[in-house]
Amino acid sequence: MKIFISTFILMLQIVFAQTAPLIINTDNRDCTSLNGKWRTIIDPYEIGYYDYRYMPSNNGFFLNKKPQSKTDLIEYDFDKSAMLDVPGDWNTQNDKLFLYEGTIWYKKDFDYKRKSGKRLFIYFGAANYKADVYLNGKKLGEHFGGFTPFNFEITDLVKEKDNFVIAKVDDKRMREGVPTLNTDWWNYGGLTRDVKLIEVPSTFIRDYFIQLKKGSASQVSGWVQLDGDNREQNVTIKIPEANIQTKVKTNSDGFAKLDFDANLTLWSPDNPKLYNVILESETDTVKDQIGFRTIETKGIDILLNGKPIFLRGISIHEEAPIRSGRAFSKEDAEILLGWAKELNCNFVRLAHYPHNEHMTRMADKMGILVWSEIPVYWTILWDNDSTLVNAKSQLREEITRDKNKASIILWSMSNETPISEPRLKFLTSLQELARQLDPTRLITAALERHYTNDTTLMIDDPFGKYLDVIGDNEYIGWYDGLPSKADNLVWKCAYNKPVIISEFGAGALYGKHGDDLTKWTEEYQANVYRHQVNMLKKVLFIKGMTPWILMDFRSPRRVLPDIQDFWNRKGLISNRGEKKEAFYILQNFYKGLENK
Ligand code: GCU
Repeated sequence: MKIFISTFILMLQIVFAQTAPLIINTDNRDCTSLNGKWRTIIDPYEIGYYDYRYMPSNNGFFLNKKPQSKTDLIEYDFDKSAMLDVPGDWNTQNDKLFLYEGTIWYKKDFDYKRKSGKRLFIYFGAANYKADVYLNGKKLGEHFGGFTPFNFEITDLVKEKDNFVIAKVDDKRMREGVPTLNTDWWNYGGLTRDVKLIEVPSTFIRDYFIQLKKGSASQVSGWVQLDGDNREQNVTIKIPEANIQTKVKTNSDGFAKLDFDANLTLWSPDNPKLYNVILESETDTVKDQIGFRTIETKGIDILLNGKPIFLRGISIHEEAPIRSGRAFSKEDAEILLGWAKELNCNFVRLAHYPHNEHMTRMADKMGILVWSEIPVYWTILWDNDSTLVNAKSQLREEITRDKNKASIILWSMSNETPISEPRLKFLTSLQELARQLDPTRLITAALERHYTNDTTLMIDDPFGKYLDVIGDNEYIGWYDGLPSKADNLVWKCAYNKPVIISEFGAGALYGKHGDDLTKWTEEYQANVYRHQVNMLKKVLFIKGMTPWILMDFRSPRRVLPDIQDFWNRKGLISNRGEKKEAFYILQNFYKGLENK
């Protein structure tokens, strides 16, 4: 009964988190950044939130109280407390916080002269994991999930002077969480992405979907959503370079569908053509840069713009290159995707959670196809209602933010989840939601395979039935036998669908050398890659791969001294940017495919 009540309360918290509907394309809006130094209070016992009876207190740190007289007892002071950079994880900013999992309170002061007739929102690119947000002592709301954006309206709460926004950020891992308790990546906590104020007209263009209709290279379809009182308006969509101008009328909910013919240059890795698209309503104008391409499957083929394509990919964690910690900037994206380009990739798997928007914008610009994923990872609590609500909310935020990004072709529902009925029910309902939110892209998941005999691998996970593209992780030569084991294996798949090998790889410490059967040497890793690419290139239904992984990344599961030291060493590049021997094996293999 107690479990039921707490799950029920948690579910209500997630459903009624009071975040305002998400504003998209914030890069092209009237924004004021709140990035920079924030005052922080480390609060492992959450004394700033609960009283000594462990009941939520009305007199918490969110009031930012100051002693008013010499007898006043206030036992905290933000303005004398340490500062942390935002965006940024707290773990790599202060050695004392390296292993810290718990609550840290963040405070930022700001003045803001709001223009009359305008509305104001505060927008968080992400906060890991649970955020409770307050403005001038008033609760705005809360948000669960460390990798998707959320915003609150503060129009009626903001003052011209001396505003203080306070965010309680708690990255404690929870069994019912998404992800759950165990992950093979570092639980970087904090306000990990950009924080900004967004000023918009009283009725503004909050959201829109403008992409080619499924299966058509010449018909754009989608919708536009206004937000505000003046909901019935004419909205004009313009693509000047393509001589397109079309008008729709929004209904009493501020919504209008759009459908129009268009003669467009299609976006592709070879020609990542982005169009300036202008949406003009009677009260607001929004500009965006959007590419148009079609993506579909036909039997075992993946068709980009109607042509079969092989996805030459690599997996990437959102680990900052060189400096380590959670990546968050345009520069981080440029370096990581630049390395993927150097590998001759046309595709990346952003694992295991939605990466920051700089990454997906950069992929649009650089012409790199993207697999985007929500952290439904390993042993999620499948039959817990609040867990499903949470996963769906993260999926909704991910798709809302990135549905106009041409680079994204695949929404992944999960990674390496154990087969069971409750899991199948959970994942099936997730993919249903994804298809509702976005009928244009392909749905996938990273599944596992099994041996039907010593030399035959079978992919027949029941969830495969619901997918457009099957992802499969395998570690032949690392967790499963020696590198040469790959040479005599036969692959089978129960589905007539394209398969992407979403993970294979081996660990190697940069600079460690030896014969190619000595674990942890660059030679061993290269040996695994040689045997892998030779095996996989022969399997007809394998239409892509994203080896694990571009760069070494931090993980609390990796404790081997002098080799791992909290780093997963399966990168083709070290965390300091040094390329290992296997980098060149894969680079050459992709070069060969590119020239085909
Ligand atoms: C798994 C998992 C990754 C992990 C990798 C590894 O397959 O999906 O998250 O890091 O294997 O073991 O290195």
